[in-house]
Formats: sequence, C-alpha cells, structure tokens
Amino acid sequence: QEQGKVERLMAAMTLAEKIGQLNLLAAGEGLVTGAGQSTSLSARLDAGQVGAIFGTKSLASARAMQDRALAGSRLNIPLFFAEDVIHGQRTIFPLNIALTCGWDMALIEETSAFAAAEAAAEGLHLTFAPMIDICRDPRWGRVAEGPGEDPLLAARAAAAAVRGFQGDDPAGPRRLAACLKHFVAYGAPDSGRDYDNVSLAWEDLLSVYLPPFEAGIKAGAASVMTAFNAVNKLPMHANAPLVEGWLRGGQGFDGLVVSDYTGVQELIAHGLGPAPVVVARALHAGVDMDMVGEDYLRELPALACDGLDAPEAGLVLPASAIVALIDRACRRVLQFKERLGLLDDPFRGLDGGTPAPSRRAGRDLARRAAARAAVLLKNDGVLPLSRSARVALIGPMAADRANMLGTWSVSGRAEDVVPLHEAVAALTGRAPDTVWGANIVDEPWLEQRLNVHGVTVTRDPRPEAELLAEALAAARAADVIVAAVGEAKEHAGESSSVLSPVLPAPQCRLIEALAGTGKPLAVVVFAGRPLALGRIAEQADALLYAWHGGVAGPEGVTDLIFGAASPAGRLAVTLPAHPGEVPLSHAHEPTGRPDPGRFAKFRTGWLDLPDDAPRFPFGFGLGYGRIDYDPPRLSTDAARADQPVELRVTLRNTGAVEMTETVQLYASDPVARVTRPGRWLIDFRQVTLAPGESCELVFPVHAEQFRYPLAPSLEAVEWLRDPGLIRLHVGPNSRDTQMVELTWLT
Ligand code: IFM
Repeated sequence: QEQGKVERLMAAMTLAEKIGQLNLLAAGEGLVTGAGQSTSLSARLDAGQVGAIFGTKSLASARAMQDRALAGSRLNIPLFFAEDVIHGQRTIFPLNIALTCGWDMALIEETSAFAAAEAAAEGLHLTFAPMIDICRDPRWGRVAEGPGEDPLLAARAAAAAVRGFQGDDPAGPRRLAACLKHFVAYGAPDSGRDYDNVSLAWEDLLSVYLPPFEAGIKAGAASVMTAFNAVNKLPMHANAPLVEGWLRGGQGFDGLVVSDYTGVQELIAHGLGPAPVVVARALHAGVDMDMVGEDYLRELPALACDGLDAPEAGLVLPASAIVALIDRACRRVLQFKERLGLLDDPFRGLDGGTPAPSRRAGRDLARRAAARAAVLLKNDGVLPLSRSARVALIGPMAADRANMLGTWSVSGRAEDVVPLHEAVAALTGRAPDTVWGANIVDEPWLEQRLNVHGVTVTRDPRPEAELLAEALAAARAADVIVAAVGEAKEHAGESSSVLSPVLPAPQCRLIEALAGTGKPLAVVVFAGRPLALGRIAEQADALLYAWHGGVAGPEGVTDLIFGAASPAGRLAVTLPAHPGEVPLSHAHEPTGRPDPGRFAKFRTGWLDLPDDAPRFPFGFGLGYGRIDYDPPRLSTDAARADQPVELRVTLRNTGAVEMTETVQLYASDPVARVTRPGRWLIDFRQVTLAPGESCELVFPVHAEQFRYPLAPSLEAVEWLRDPGLIRLHVGPNSRDTQMVELTWLT
C-alpha cells in the first residue's frame, strides 16, 4: 500500500513537478560554503520547484516553508529539511576525529542519538552526516570531521553513528535520517588540498576508502552524498561506475543520493562539458538531487524534450531515456520522503510535539565524551595535578570559547562553552593564574581568513616580548604550568588545507620559553587535525591532545588533568614527527628497503628527520596506570579457512588506578600476490580493569579478515585469500605489539 502512494504520485505528476523534486536548496539562514547561493527561494516554493531545504535555523521557519511548499504543490508534496549536524546540534560534542579517538562505539551512538534528538526538535529530518572519509594526510582540513585513518575503525564508527542518528527507523521520534558522505575518497586529495583530485590504486579504494560506506549502508543509512573530487580522473558527481555501479548495484543501496553544494555545476569546471552535458551525466550517474546549483531545474526540461547527443562525453541519451532518468531520481526522492513518514504527515517533526532533550543531560554527555576523546601522549609524572597546586594557565586557548566548538558546529554557541580557566576554578575551588602568552597566529592575513565565519581569532595587540614576559612571570610564581595552545576552529575544516600541519609559530615560541623556566610543564593541544608536534613533545613534561572538544571540551580536559577522569583516548590517526612526512599511516606498505625507524643510508627514510623525533603511532595513548599483557596464544597454529580459530590474551592491571584499555589486534601478511599494508587492524576490544584485576580476552580469527582485492579496474575485481603464513599482532597500539603466527591451510 505504501509503495502505492509513491506510484500514485508518480502517475499524477507532470515532468516539471518531477524536476522540482530534484531541487535541493539552502534556506539562506546558515553557512555559505561555496560561490553559488540559493536565491528566489520563496518564488521557487510557490512554483512547486523545491524538493528539500537545508540550513533552516528554527522550527518556525521550517514550518513556514513547509506551509508555502504545500500551497505551491498541486499534489501537496512536502519538503524535507536537512542540516549539517556533524558533531552535535546545539550541544556540540567533540569533533568526530576526537570522538573516534575514544574507540568507544556506544559513545558515538549515544552522542549521535542526542544530536538527532536536538535536531529533530528543530524540525530537521536529515543530517548530512556521518562524514566517513578516511584521511591519512593531516594537511587536509576536513580530517577534523572524519573517523581517522583506519578502515575498520572508521567502518565501526560509521555504523555506530548511523545507528545513533536513525535508531530502528529514521522516521522515529527524535531521529534523523543519516547521509554517508562524501562518496568517495574525498579525504585523499592530491597534496592534501581540499577539493583536489584523487589518484588511487583501485585496491586502495576497495579496501581502505569504501569499507566505511559499506558498513554505513549495512547499518541502514538512508542517504549518501557524492564528493567534490574526481577519483582516477572521473569526478564523483558523474561517476556512474561508483554511484550506480558499486553503491547501488554492488551494495544494494536503495536510498537517496544527493549532490554536494553546487557539485553538479562544478563538473563544468572539472572539464566535463557545458551545463546540459554535465546535468545529464550527473543524473545518469545516479545523483538524485542537485544541491544549490539549480542546474537540474534549468537544464532538464529541454533535455527531456531533445535528449542529449554528446559523443565527446560518451553519452547519447534520447529524450525518452532522460525522462526515464528523471523518473528514477524523482521516485527515489519520493520514496525517501515516504520513508521519513512525510507523505503521511507533511508536518512530521514540525508540530513542536517532540521537545528537545535536556541540555543539562547533553552537557554531561559532552563532558564525558570530551574526556574520553582526549589522548594523553606523554606524562613524566606531572599529571594528574593536585587540586591544591598553584597552576599558571597560559596560552590563547586558556580562556577561549568559540574555538572549542570546532569546525561545522553550525548551531553551537560560543557562550555555551565553559572556558578552561573557569572549568579549573570550578573543579579545584581556586582560580588559576590565567594569562594569554602568545597569539593564535602571527600573520594578519591568515587571521582574516580564519575569521571568515565570525570571529574565532582575537589578537592581543601587545608586542610578543611583552606577552611572553607576562607569561613567564606567571609561570615562575606557580607550582606547575598548563599551556593551553592550539588551532583556531577555522584552521581545520572545509577549505582549510594547510601546507604545514604544525602548531602556529607564536605558540611554539611560548612553549619553548615556558619549558626554559624548568617548572613542570603540561601542554594541552586544542586542534582540529593531527599536528606534527616536533620539539614540543620533548619540551613538555606532559602532553594531552584534546582536539576541539566541543561545548564541554575544557571541562573534560579539566577532569583529566586533575584526575577526576582517567585518560582512555587512543589516536585514530598517526601523529607525524614532521610535517614533511605526510601522508602517512600505520598501514603504510613496506618498501624493498624498509624504514629501520632511524635514518640509515640507502633505506627508506628522511635524511633531515632527527632519529629521536617522536611520531605517535596510530592507536597510541597513555593512562595514569599500567596494564601488562601476557604473551598471546592461538587455539591452533594451522587452520583450514572454514575452521574457527581463537586468539587469547590476558591483561593485568598492575598499576594503582582503574584503567580502560583498548586492546588492538593487527594482522600482517608476509607473502602475498601483491604488497600488503605493513599491518592492518582486524579487531579491537575495550576493557576496564581495577587495580590488581586481570582478564582474558578472546578474539575470534577468521579467514575473511585476510581477504584483499586485486583490481586492474573496477570492472575486474578479484577478492583473494592466500593460504600460508599470516602474523597477528596484539597490543595497546599499532607499534608496541606481541606477535603470533598462523598458517592458513589451502
Ligand atoms: O554537507 C556539506 C558538505 O559536507 C560540504 N558542502 C556543503 C554541504 C552542505 O552544507
């Protein structure tokens, strides 16, 4: 019967009405992230030429637009409302890269569910999230929004976020439909430059960049957004083999595909042809809705009459084929609306009947999440601090609010953030001596760029020497220094690629000066990307990577540094020693002259990278206690592919405090048909152990975990699993592991 509703509409709609459904416009109330902008929204609504709107800022405005759309639609077809609810709606949680460092899927589900509940209360139906682009190059600013460098961790995070947003039903109360983005490989642009082209071995596409999408689709994600980039020369908005082929044909995805902001129109700049050609190509590739550009609206009426004869684009489509493609896309839009319950009730979610969840509960969750996301990278006994210590809190992030929210926090408010100095005072009962110390950046032109979405960079106009003198005076009078440094929120995010992912120079100079005092120095880094920390990692006695932790980020950090919470974060990305060594990841394939870990002539490495430069490996993070691992044991050292194998490892808490440990299981394949990753993550598990407690973990090991693709082209993919030796590595991170060997018999 439900199927009937869509088909009845399809039968009654005119071609113009169908084309109108494919038009996705911006409300003009939110962020503008491209050259084009939606104009004449009211006129379009009156003419029944809008299928959906994103970026409304209140229930009242969404309601008014829905009223207008229904009045303008002969068949009363409602709009749906979307927004970029990326890491929270009003309650901003840590950046996704940070949340992924918690390796805690229940927490990702919980924060996504909370975000959905807040957003649904504002009349939204769809979030353009989760962003699940694997990124191994911290020059790319959008690494902040994603799940890091590893496909297994990212796939689990993608599924958890989808479950959190959608629950069992995206039309359920307090739920949103999810949108997997950006399809695909947007996180691997040449040179880390946003929007740039992507050149990848098909094998990497299949085994690194696509698995999070596969997991998100399995979890039931209702929609997908195509990416701005080209993959191996074919831009994703025209990429029929990947969109209609892999996504729909291969994975059975039957939801909605939306373009990115003016993504269809941008095919012209990619060099794929004039407007009519690129419109036909995008529609043919399977992009159902056109965001902001309105090229579908402009070009499709004529194409549906005349067809397209563009042999230079490899596309000859008679008018009837164009009409069929319009039908296909329109049917998917209507099915999506049906899935959201909007065909039954156009005001679903817009009647104010489902109030937002308690903001207090949101803050508590955000604080717990921020503490979980921060990664303790070094601790020479400085942390946790005593609550009675005299603390000098120094640096531009010490009293900051706006930057704590991080990128893509469109409905977040700086005034909701409790800054670090206030959080410390609230927890300890004594105000730290707080001074500015250094500016966030020192180039005025960069400051201007960073302030594009409102002021996030403020400058202390005094000369640097004066700022430093003040900082040093405070430091000398204290028992311990906490340096609060980092990036502005617009320093990471869309269109925020950098040549050099390092801490801005004035703050490096500040840390160097503070270290010179000889006082214990804890450095807290609030950033959106993995930065190469260089000498800072030596100068600091303790180093906490706190990311942009959201509305309660500084409170979560305060809990950690005073021991009210226990550090459990583990890096979801490798932290480079030097900016020149990116891209990099734990899965890097070995060369014929492998990197010995220090410079050696005629071996893979960097002549100008000091041997002791710290690179923090994927999966790394410290706690305040100690966990020891017994040697891992396999249930057998040789098995057939259909035979169950188990790896057991016993852990003991030999320290004095409770510890949450993320036990990581990696594999490597010493002999294969092609070069395989140095090691890759195949499973992980978290346990919390009290002092003196031990536990045995059992990891099932199965042949599927060792499959890999051979793919001379996308049309000729062969998935292999070789018999023979494989190695399993267990440990607290990707470097410090113990190994056992297993042989697969045939
Ligand atoms: O969802 C975003 C996307 O990630 C980048 N371009 C704009 C879209 C809508 O805001």
